[in-house]
Amino acid sequence: LIGIYGHELKMPVYVVGGFVRDLLLNIPNYDIDIVVEGNGIEFAKYVGKQLDAIVVPYEKFYTATLVFKDGFKIDIATARTEYYEKPGELPQVDVSTIKKDLYRRDFTINAMAIKLNPNEFGVLYDFFNCQRDLQEGIIRILHNLSFIEDPTRMIRAVRFETRYNFRIEEHTLDILKKNLEGKYLERVSGSRIRQEIEKILEEREPMKAIRRLAELGILKHIFPKTYYTPTMDEKLERVFKFLPSVKERYQNISDFYAISTVLLEFYDKETLDDMRNRYGYPKKFIESLKFTENMMMPLKSMIETRLNFSDIYKVIGKGNPYIFIHLSAYLEEDDQEYLITYIDAILNTKLEKVSGKYVIERFSLKSGPVINEILERLYAMKLDNPK
Ligand code: CTP
Repeated sequence: LIGIYGHELKMPVYVVGGFVRDLLLNIPNYDIDIVVEGNGIEFAKYVGKQLDAIVVPYEKFYTATLVFKDGFKIDIATARTEYYEKPGELPQVDVSTIKKDLYRRDFTINAMAIKLNPNEFGVLYDFFNCQRDLQEGIIRILHNLSFIEDPTRMIRAVRFETRYNFRIEEHTLDILKKNLEGKYLERVSGSRIRQEIEKILEEREPMKAIRRLAELGILKHIFPKTYYTPTMDEKLERVFKFLPSVKERYQNISDFYAISTVLLEFYDKETLDDMRNRYGYPKKFIESLKFTENMMMPLKSMIETRLNFSDIYKVIGKGNPYIFIHLSAYLEEDDQEYLITYIDAILNTKLEKVSGKYVIERFSLKSGPVINEILERLYAMKLDNPK
C-alpha cells in the first residue's frame, strides 16, 4: 500500500535500514523505516488519511511517525543529507536523494533500500556493496567521518558485531580507534551514551558486547576510571546470572544501574559526581553505592557462612535491590540462592498486629526511641522464625 500511495503522489518510496538488513538475513524485524524522495510529511499525511492512522510530524527533521489504531508504528522520513555542525550533536537536515541518504548512514549493512512503488516493487538499492558486507559479516563505515558525525556509532558497531557475530572491518577499526583517542565520545551527551548501552543490555549476549567494548577501549571513554580486569568480568557475569531473580521480585530494575554497581566500584567521590551528572543516576543510588561498597566483603562471608537472617539484617537492614545486585557480584551460585531467600524473607515478613502502640500498651512503656528498637528486634526475630 505504501508503494501504491507513493505512486499516487508521484514520490519514490523505499523501506530502508535495519528492516532491509534483517530481511536479507531472514530475521523478523517489525521496525519499519520508510524514506520518501519528496516531502515525507506530506506523504505521511496522505497515508494517514487513507489508512486512518494518526500522523505525528517532526517538521524540523522532515519526518513523521504514523501510529495505527492497534499501536503499530511506521517512521517516514524525507530522503536527506545530514550536516553535523558540531560532532555529537543532532544533525541539521537538507532534502536529498536516496543515494545520499544511504551514504550518510552508520554502516554498509544498514545502508540498503528496497523500492516500494509498484513499477519497481522489491528492487534492492545497494550503492555501496552493502550486500557483500552483509554476506561476509563485515561492519564497515561508509565514509571516514562517520564516527565523528555520530560517535555513538562506535557503540552501535559493537552491538551489531555481537548480535550477528560479525566483525568490524580493519579500516573502520582504525578510524574508530583514532576517533576514540580524539575524545569524540566524550562530546556526546550522557543520555545518548546511556541509551546505546541500554540497547546493548537488551541484546541476547550483553556480556560479550561489554567485553568487546572493554577490549576496544570504548568502555574507558564511557567509564573513565573503570579498569576492566578478569575479576570485574567475573563479577559482571555473576550479576547477569542473578538479575532475573531480582526482576521477578522487584519492578523497574534497570540493567544499566545493575552493571553500574560493579563498573563504578571504588570510584572517588568527585568522579562519581561527574558520572551522576553525565548519566543521570539518582542521588540515592550513588549514595547507597558509596555506603555499601566497603561492606561487600563482610557481607559475602556472612552469606557464605549462612549467617542468620537477623544477623544479616543488623548489617544491611531491608537493603534495596541494587545493594543485593552488587552483593551478587561477589557470590557463587548457591550463595546467590541464599541471598534470594534473604530477600524473600525481607519482602514477606511483616510485624502485622505488633505496632508501636501495641508494644507501649502491652509492656506499659513510654513512647521513645526504645520502642523502635524493640520493633526492629522483633522484626529481626521474625525473619529467622516467621511462625
Ligand atoms: N542510523 C544511522 N546512525 C545512527 C543510528 C541509526 O545511520 N547512529 C540509521 C541506520 O541506517 C539504521 C537506521 O538509521 O539502520 C535505523 O536506526 P535504528 O532503528 O536505531 O537501528 P536499526 O538498524 O533498525 O537496528 P535495531 O535492529 O537495533 O533496531
